[in-house]
Amino acid sequence: MQNAHSLEHLIPEAEAEFAACANVNDLENAKARYLGKSGALTEALKGLGKLSNEERPAAGAAINVVKQAVEAALKARRDAILMAEQNLQLASETLDVTLPARGQQAGGLHPVSLTLARIEKLFHSIGFDVAEGPEIESDFYNFTALNIPENHPARAMHDTFYVDTADGKLDHVLRTHTSPVQVHYMQNAMKDKSGPPLKIIAPGRVYRVDSDATHSPMFHQVEGLWVDEDVSFANLKGVVQDFLQRFFERDDLQVRFRPSFFPFTEPSAEMDMSWNGGWLEIGGCGMVHPEVFKHVGIDAEKYRGFAFGLGVERLTMLRYGVNDLRHFFNNDLRFLQQFGR
Ligand code: FA5
Repeated sequence: MQNAHSLEHLIPEAEAEFAACANVNDLENAKARYLGKSGALTEALKGLGKLSNEERPAAGAAINVVKQAVEAALKARRDAILMAEQNLQLASETLDVTLPARGQQAGGLHPVSLTLARIEKLFHSIGFDVAEGPEIESDFYNFTALNIPENHPARAMHDTFYVDTADGKLDHVLRTHTSPVQVHYMQNAMKDKSGPPLKIIAPGRVYRVDSDATHSPMFHQVEGLWVDEDVSFANLKGVVQDFLQRFFERDDLQVRFRPSFFPFTEPSAEMDMSWNGGWLEIGGCGMVHPEVFKHVGIDAEKYRGFAFGLGVERLTMLRYGVNDLRHFFNNDLRFLQQFGR
């Protein structure tokens, strides 16, 4: 083994080597040459075992003196490098405290949400409850119970998103309209004997393979349903006209009912409202078809009902003068911030 004193030269060598290191990585490599697994000082310590008991304490102490000096030099250089790096970072990442603050703005409700809230409030004021149903519907609720049997051409009226299921059967869909909520609600009312009479609106998201300036693959409808012993088409007209006049705050607003076809109503009509000297279609409606009553177990001899389905985006476009429905879903704050809170 080397004489422990002969190790002292390592101190200035290490100091010089550490001083030449520009970064912590280089420093780690330099450290290995002295204190690493086979570094000079580690080797020296290993060699202590070969010395006699008399020689060992003094030799060990001498090695430790050198080791501590090298460790101190290492720490001093590491601190200096880190400090220099931090200073560099502080100099390059200056914070301009004179910049104006970004501020915080409270968010607002989406225009379609504002419309939905308004619709619910107005119908609530004339005694309609709000009902909800699932957005993934079975084929039965979306079509069959609404008198649209399998392979019936009426299904082609709705361009449908089918949902993949584990067994590969295409028997679930993203609901194409809110009308299936009618079926759920009437079934439940029969089950728990809470009605008829029943009087609900059912607002919610619906889906169709459809996309242009007035059609979106996801949009909102609000369904209306009133079932009682003496509900008539005249009631339907009154309720819809009253709602639209209050929604648009215009007493002179006219509603027109155009004969149409829906498999779940008979007679059926398309509802148009007067707008800028013309007519605009806003939804469908009619008297609940006896086949639908049959599916939910309501006595069609005793009860009658009306139903309607309105396009919520359409009402929102008319109310705020928006000419392209896609604005609602592009998430452009310049558009969204124009609406009240
Ligand atoms: C129906 O969906 C019927 N369920 C309505 C109904 C209910 C009739 C109860 C009778 C009784 P229709 O497919 O016409 O009907 O849609 C109703 C309204 O939804 C349309 O007038 C329109 O305002 C809106 N709408 C339809 N497709 C889209 C779409 N892709 N994007 C935005 N709005 C749409």
